[in-house]
Amino acid sequence: MPHERFRFKSLEELLAKAEELGVELPVQRDLSPLARQVSIGGKLTPNALGIHPMEGCDGTTEGKPGELTVRRYLRFARGGAGLLWFEATAIVPEGRANPHQLLLVPENAAEFAALREQALNAGREVNGPDYEPFTVLQITHSGRYSRPVDKPAPIIAHHDGILDKVQGLPEDYPLISDEELDRLQDRYLEAARLVYQCGFDGVDIKSCHRYLISELLAAHTRPGRYGGSFENRTRLLREVVARIREELPELRITIRLNVYDGHPYPWGWGVSKEDPRVPDLREPLKLIGILQKLGVSLINVTAGNPYYTPHINRPFDQNVIGGYIPDEHPLEGVARMIWLARQVKEAYPDLVVVGSGYSWLRHYFPQVAAAVIQRGWADIVALGRGAFAYPDFARDILQKGKLDPRRTCITCSRCTQIMRDHGPTGCVVFDKEVYGPIYREGRRRHRA
Ligand SMILES: Cc1cc2nc3c(=O)[nH]c(=O)nc-3n(C[C@H](O)[C@H](O)[C@H](O)COP(=O)(O)O)c2cc1C
Repeated sequence: MPHERFRFKSLEELLAKAEELGVELPVQRDLSPLARQVSIGGKLTPNALGIHPMEGCDGTTEGKPGELTVRRYLRFARGGAGLLWFEATAIVPEGRANPHQLLLVPENAAEFAALREQALNAGREVNGPDYEPFTVLQITHSGRYSRPVDKPAPIIAHHDGILDKVQGLPEDYPLISDEELDRLQDRYLEAARLVYQCGFDGVDIKSCHRYLISELLAAHTRPGRYGGSFENRTRLLREVVARIREELPELRITIRLNVYDGHPYPWGWGVSKEDPRVPDLREPLKLIGILQKLGVSLINVTAGNPYYTPHINRPFDQNVIGGYIPDEHPLEGVARMIWLARQVKEAYPDLVVVGSGYSWLRHYFPQVAAAVIQRGWADIVALGRGAFAYPDFARDILQKGKLDPRRTCITCSRCTQIMRDHGPTGCVVFDKEVYGPIYREGRRRHRA
């Protein structure tokens, strides 16, 4: 169905569109499932709403949280969500996605601990002394999308017939070696130690969005110990998880995982070999079963590539400037994300499952999220872009029983645009005093 912008005046109109599209969209007016506490590795969240990892590209050049980073997490914590997922944080300098990405190395650890503490204190001031959200820090290597200084410096796990061309990589561009991947395992372990020391409840070994581990999962054409077979492609993630579990038994392990790339075989993961538009979840589900046995307590289900197929990852009204118009309705994208998480939850009922990709639903998000949780299709539902726009969405849902339609994210992609223009990002529409000038400056620089 053709792409359309959000223009629904009632829940009934939204449901009618879902029916017209032939997609399943559960809704209910009883929002009480969103107030449920969820046990993650024995620790209870205050409610079933979360904030996804959202990179602000606003760390210092050394990779410590900057002023805007601190501001973001204070706002998030004041909002009262039960799960606060701290953004993509690089484990090595060469794996940073931009020169202002956070970097978790021993020299920066004290600032990460302080960031978490300050956020929780701010959260308690507003939500009461008992407010104790579950905190996760996402650790990452940006792989193909590394840009540690001022120009791209891709570190690739395998050649990709599409992405290599998009990025202008020659056929003989070198692959990261097996030995370097072995050494990276040690870096992941060191970073996990720091996550633990900084007081986070969980670590997330980022395995999504075509960054390094996500690319490895699809490394069908790579020779050696990290490519080819399922066992080899999943090696880095499995071995890192096993080593963290062994050394840090008290640190909960979570994984933000692409279960579907929407990218053609032999470069895609979770896709039908014949048609990348069709998910084939056999391998992702097999991996999740293994990860659960290794001690992973939570999977945050995501999909797509934010650089190449952003409509899969984050259904939108408007793409970044010059971006394509998707050949599907955004509601089909939202329904796909709901369906993907449901497949994981139904296969592994004991695993905590977090759902993604809901921001396009605007003020109907709570009704859909409540129905998803009520049906047991996910345990926690979180917002990404929606949290930039409306950081206290969780409190409004839980206390007022609704969201203010004048404050919800309009999925205009300007937050992504700032990132593409290499600026520190946030909501240009609803936090415009801070991000309006940054957006305009980025556009001006781009044109110059
Ligand atoms: C500006 C921006 C930064 C993001 N940073 C991260 C990140 O650090 N880690 C991650 O896993 N996903 C990241 N994402 C993806 C979001 O977490 C989320 O999956 C996506 O926006 C879809 O959810 P939504 O519809 O609620 O926005 C980012 C998205 C945007 C727009």
